[in-house]
Amino acid sequence: MLPMLAAALICADCHRDLAARFAATPMANSSGPVRAAAEHPGRVSSTYKIDGARLEWPGGAVDLAVFIGSRRMGRSYAYSQDGFLFQVPVGYYANRGAWDLAPGYERDKVPDFSRPIGADCLFCHATSSRLAPDSINRYSQVDYGIGCARCHGAGADHQQFVNPARLTGRKRDSVCDQCHLAGTARIGKAGKRLQDFQPGEDLAEYLEVFTGQSRGVRVNGHSDALAASRCKQESGGALWCGTCHDPHRAAVDYAAICRSCHAGAHRAKTRGPDCAGCHMPKSKARDGGHTVFTDHTLRLKEPDTGEIVSYFGRKPEGRDLGLGYFQIALDRRDSRYFEKAWPLLREAAARKAMDPKLYATVGALLAAAGRRREAEAYYRLSLDQDPVQPEVLHKLAALLGRGEEADRFRTRALRMLPRTF
Ligand code: HEC
Ligand code: HEC
Ligand code: HEC
Ligand code: HEC
Ligand code: HEC
Ligand code: HEC
Ligand code: HEC
Repeated sequence: MLPMLAAALICADCHRDLAARFAATPMANSSGPVRAAAEHPGRVSSTYKIDGARLEWPGGAVDLAVFIGSRRMGRSYAYSQDGFLFQVPVGYYANRGAWDLAPGYERDKVPDFSRPIGADCLFCHATSSRLAPDSINRYSQVDYGIGCARCHGAGADHQQFVNPARLTGRKRDSVCDQCHLAGTARIGKAGKRLQDFQPGEDLAEYLEVFTGQSRGVRVNGHSDALAASRCKQESGGALWCGTCHDPHRAAVDYAAICRSCHAGAHRAKTRGPDCAGCHMPKSKARDGGHTVFTDHTLRLKEPDTGEIVSYFGRKPEGRDLGLGYFQIALDRRDSRYFEKAWPLLREAAARKAMDPKLYATVGALLAAAGRRREAEAYYRLSLDQDPVQPEVLHKLAALLGRGEEADRFRTRALRMLPRTF
């Protein structure tokens, strides 16, 4: 094949039926530009109103520019300010056919319009995105919806495409784990960019993911849950997402799949035929607001180990474990985890490396302990390695207080992430 044409290989030219089927799935429709009036416009709460594709409140209004979520369960929205994408504090809930406050905004006393739509959000809900230089939420290009390349690779010719079902073990599971593995904490490995992951690789080279301390089903925790099941653990690696789901097709006969391994279960036929109805009950996700999700642990009773462990079954590096504890401390507002994190992070920081995330975290812990001079040094080191960190710039400016340099840092931060309402 001519190399120039190869780059424009259009999957649908040859895989017409399959591409048409996939186009109708929730994954293919998981994000996109808002082109028409939102459904069910009207009053959301005493504060907010949806009018066409516009969100209004007593203090102002924004146009809904981008949606995230297919609306199978729900939909979040973003507005654009000079090309910077920010989340709006309300969302649409399909199960109730109504708008309400979006997950995470319930506790706010004042409307919050300042949460950036970061690259991680689009990593899971779009095919690809490119940030404009010097920004964390201004995009020069977004390929909305999840496309073929995310599971089959972005090769320039057909030989390079991957069929996930022909991969084995971790490389196979990694294809879905990219987005369906939530973990208790998800930590990027030093020197790696998750965006560079390609189907056929092992995600463990890009991420450390901690599990354990489960507190119920999470919105995107299907992989962690399945890994905790005896079905997965004791089937010798045979069971994976693709056993029960074909991403291009709708519903399958789940009970037949269960029976392919559990021919003898409930031989007395005392139970109904709907295996999943009992063994994979729906429950409310603890991070998903008002929607219910299917429990993939397939457990008769779920144990809680009380400690976090690597999803990949390896001994985690001290740096990754420390950052994991730090993440949990923030999520749970539990300072005991800061104490667990500190010795691990201090030891990791003693070694020189390219690791802006580590140094910024060490800076934050030192600042919290009142060790301002040391905190300042670590923030500076972090910013030397990655200058595009508005939050770190703000923290360093706060440490410095008044003065010309602090003002300069604040101005730089605001250029990267402007203040909104
Ligand atoms: C010029 C026609 C053509 C185009 C364009 C094309 N394919 Fe294919 N593809 C085929 C044919 C024919 C087969 C079946 C024979 C084979 O396995 O090579 C196939 C098979 C596959 C398989 C299964 C491979 C396996 O090992 O089981 C995958 C996955 C695949 N294509 C993905 C894609 C993706 C993704 C694109 C777009 C980026 C694409 N194809 C574009 C013709 C094409
Ligand atoms: C790029 C991120 C990404 C990858 C890779 C990914 N998913 Fe998804 N998946 C999502 C998102 C996001 C949704 C929710 C879509 C929505 O409703 O907006 C979803 C929804 C689903 C659903 C529920 C909707 C439906 O079609 O019934 C299933 C099942 C699913 N994914 C299976 C898989 C499997 C199996 C794989 C691996 C072969 C996989 N996904 C890979 C992000 C991803
Ligand atoms: C690590 C991957 C990941 C990240 C990061 C992520 N999501 Fe999701 N999200 C998912 C997956 C997977 C689902 C599908 C859950 C399901 O169907 O059970 C989902 C579901 C949703 C849904 C419900 C869609 C539907 O109708 O099924 C919305 C809305 C949503 N996410 C919004 C967001 C927003 C907004 C962000 C960023 C601020 C975000 N998500 C970040 C993976 C992710
Ligand atoms: C969320 C992940 C995901 C996405 C996105 C995805 N696929 Fe697939 N694809 C798979 C998996 C998993 C298999 C293996 C299915 C099996 O055999 O069980 C597969 C198999 C295939 C095959 C070969 C087997 C078959 O069913 O004919 C082709 C061809 C293919 N995909 C093309 C595409 C094209 C074209 C697109 C985009 C329009 C696409 N896929 C999007 C996950 C995905
Ligand atoms: C690839 C094979 C495979 C598939 C498919 C499979 N399982 Fe399993 N499952 C196993 C194995 C192996 C075990 C552990 C040994 C045993 O109990 O038979 C297990 C264990 C179980 C257990 C006992 C759990 C416990 O905590 O003791 C239940 C319940 C179960 N499976 C239900 C299901 C249901 C329901 C489905 C379909 C939704 C299903 N399984 C699909 C292989 C599988
Ligand atoms: C043993 C069978 C089985 C396996 C393996 C399995 N699922 Fe599911 N999955 C189900 C069933 C059953 C449902 C509920 C379907 C329904 O209600 O229509 C479901 C629902 C889902 C949904 C829709 C949202 C929800 O929570 O209800 C997503 C997303 C999903 N699965 C992703 C995955 C991913 C990713 C994997 C691999 C880590 C996986 N599943 C492995 C059986 C399975
Ligand atoms: C009405 C609820 C219900 C339905 C439907 C159901 N189960 Fe169960 N299942 C249970 C309960 C409760 C247990 C715990 C042990 C017991 O009481 O038999 C169990 C135990 C199991 C076990 C572990 C013990 C054993 O018998 O090996 C497996 C495997 C299993 N079920 C598979 C299935 C499969 C496969 C289906 C569908 C054909 C199914 N179950 C349908 C409720 C149900």
